[in-house]
Amino acid sequence: MSTETKLTIVGAGNLGLAIARGLVESKALRSCEIKLTRRKLQGLENAAGEGFRVGNDNPAAVAGVDTVIVAVEPHQLDAVLDEIRPSLTPEQIVVSVVSGATLSAIRSHLGDQQAIVRAMPNTAIEIRQSMTCIAVDDKDAESAKSIVELFDHVGRTLVIDEEQMAAATALGACGVAFFLRAVRAASQGGIEIGFSSADALTLASQTALGAAGLLLARGQHPEREIDRVTTPRGCTIAGLNRMEHEGFSSAMIKGITTSAGKITGLY
Ligand SMILES: NC(=O)c1ccc[n+]([C@@H]2O[C@H](COP(=O)([O-])OP(=O)(O)OC[C@H]3O[C@@H](n4cnc5c(N)ncnc54)[C@H](OP(=O)(O)O)[C@@H]3O)[C@@H](O)[C@H]2O)c1
Repeated sequence: MSTETKLTIVGAGNLGLAIARGLVESKALRSCEIKLTRRKLQGLENAAGEGFRVGNDNPAAVAGVDTVIVAVEPHQLDAVLDEIRPSLTPEQIVVSVVSGATLSAIRSHLGDQQAIVRAMPNTAIEIRQSMTCIAVDDKDAESAKSIVELFDHVGRTLVIDEEQMAAATALGACGVAFFLRAVRAASQGGIEIGFSSADALTLASQTALGAAGLLLARGQHPEREIDRVTTPRGCTIAGLNRMEHEGFSSAMIKGITTSAGKITGLY
C-alpha cells in the first residue's frame, strides 16, 4: 500500500489540524498521507503521534503532492504563497481556507497556470460535520470537483459565487461560535430552572442537534417545525415571544452582518 504524501496542509493550526483529523476520521486519507507544517514544530507533536507527517519546510512539503491546503492567518498568506510558488507545478491544486483572501489576490502570487480553489469550512470538520462553501474561477471548475469530493467526506458542501464568500464565512465559519453561544445561553437558562450545569449543557446541546437535524432531514422552513411545538396560549409561544421582545432574532442577524462586514474589510 502506498504511503506517499497526497495532501499538505500549510499552517496546521486550529482549522488545519481539524481538517486533517476529519479526513482521517472519514477514511478519505490516512494520516501518513497528510503532511502538516507550521513554524513552531512543538505544536505538532500530538499530530506526529497520530501518524501525520510534520515539518516546517513549506517548499519541500508541497512538492509533488496532489493538493495543498493553505490555512495560515490572513496577514501570513502573501509570504507563504511566495515561499511555496517555486515548488508548485500546474497539476497541483492549491486550496485556500484563509478568510478574506480573494482568488485574484492568490493568483497574483501563484500565477495563471495554478488551479486555485477557495474553501470555507468550519471547525466541526474535525467530527465530519462541517459546512464548507467552495468558490472557484470558471477556468478551474474541473479542479474544484475533486475538492468538493474531498470536503464531502467531512460534512456538507455548497459551491457558491466568490462574491458570497464573506457571507459564507460569517454564517458558516463564525456561525459555529454563534450557535455555541446560543447553546450556552440555553444551558444557563436550564441551570436557573433547576438542572445541574452538566445536565443543562447536555439537554441544550442534544436539543440543538435535534432541531438542526429536523431541518436538514425534512428540508422544511424552521417555522413549520416551530408550529409543531407551539400550542395556543402554551408555554413555547410564551417563551418564544419573550425572546423576540428581548431582541433574539435581531441580535443574531446583527451579529452575522457585523461579522460579514468585518471580513470584507480584512484583505
Ligand atoms: N478557525 C476557524 O473556525 C476558521 C474557519 C474558516 C476559516 N478559517 C481561516 O483559516 C485560517 C487559519 O485559522 P486558524 O483558526 O486555524 O488559525 P491558527 O490556529 O492561528 O492557525 C494558523 C497556523 O498557521 C501557522 N503558520 C503561520 N505562519 C506559517 C508559515 N509561514 N508556515 C507554516 N505555518 C505557518 C501557525 O503556526 P506557527 O505560528 O507555529 O507557524 C498556526 O498554527 C485563517 O486564515 C482563518 O481565517 C478559520
